[in-house]
Amino acid sequence: MQKKRIAVIFGGKSSEHEVSRVSATNVIRSIPKDRYDVLTIGITKQGRWLLYSGDTSAIADGSWEKHPDNLTAFIAPAPSVSGMVVIHPDRTEIMKIDVIFPVLHGKNGEDGTIQGLFEMSGIPYVGCGVLASAACMNKAVTNIMLEKFGIDQAKFTWFYAHEYFEAPDRIIADTEKELGSYPMFVKPANAGSSVGISKAHNRDELIKAIEIAAREDSTIVIEENIDGLEVECAVLGNEKPIASIPGQIAPASEFYDYDAKYNDANSQLYIPARISDELMEKVRETAVKAYTRIGCSGLSRVDFFVTKDGRVLLNEINTLPGFTSISMYPKLMAASGIESERLIEELIKYAFERNGKDV
Ligand SMILES: Nc1ncnc2c1ncn2[C@@H]1O[C@H](COP(=O)(O)OP(=O)(O)O)[C@@H](O)[C@H]1O
Ligand SMILES: [Mg+2]
Repeated sequence: MQKKRIAVIFGGKSSEHEVSRVSATNVIRSIPKDRYDVLTIGITKQGRWLLYSGDTSAIADGSWEKHPDNLTAFIAPAPSVSGMVVIHPDRTEIMKIDVIFPVLHGKNGEDGTIQGLFEMSGIPYVGCGVLASAACMNKAVTNIMLEKFGIDQAKFTWFYAHEYFEAPDRIIADTEKELGSYPMFVKPANAGSSVGISKAHNRDELIKAIEIAAREDSTIVIEENIDGLEVECAVLGNEKPIASIPGQIAPASEFYDYDAKYNDANSQLYIPARISDELMEKVRETAVKAYTRIGCSGLSRVDFFVTKDGRVLLNEINTLPGFTSISMYPKLMAASGIESERLIEELIKYAFERNGKDV
């Protein structure tokens, strides 16, 4: 059988550029090379698209950007091309692509933006479509949808940053009334990797936290503080997805911030999560319900808080979760019997399935 050509896209302009490079390295290594030819497209922090043909080991540390053979290349929106346009010094080449694997986190990569380009191109791609990606990237939208679906979550409120700057006193008073007490979690609606998120213990901190969040996004979400365990569940599939064994993260710092996620060896993972079988089942059921109601496809990691009194509260859905060696998604899948090579193959299979094409 002829090999299929898969394009892995990594990097991007988002604050999670570095994480994406590490995730991409792992994804590329797990793609079965006997059946797939892998093309790697890196997007620099400045937004340049480069076809990279050097060694995979230079992706994680960013040195791939200096490779002399890099060529400007981009996915064509026209389905008549069904692939990539590559600019050589003396000519332009069109390379057909069978399937795209975006290993991008955050802005432009996980929020439906690039998925819109893929839709236009007509090329099957791994992961959620435009709407589910956008809905899950915006924490205000996710929370509003979950409320409608009857899925439990922290009490929340949201507003636009400009509304706050126009009437700060009113917004603070409304927020305090709505949520009742401190501490509160203040988040830019499009947060990823905890960037711009703060825990506010009093009104002064709330004001500062809103200003910090407003630097990241024009929409701000504020939630009551939940005192609970952080439990995560990996979901895989399209219309009838499967849920993994839930796992648990125990952050070393006061909350699971950027450092705790990527730099701190003291943050612990427990697989399975240290909760009762009954709560495990509740987490898995809720993860699948949220995934299917929002219309996710391919994969997502659904994150929860589980409280001492047995409440299961959905926190967020990550449509392109990390694939680093310490990342929960691949670990949860492995613990559920799906090792990384098979996982990648399943994801590719679901990409074709959603597009109605044979694998
Ligand atoms: N309502 C909340 N109550 C308690 N802790 C929270 C709450 N919301 C977020 N956190 C803490 O902040 C971390 C990051 O918030 P999260 O909403 O998951 O954003 P991100 O998309 O950046 O991961 C969580 O992993 C958790 O440790
Ligand atoms: Mg999170």
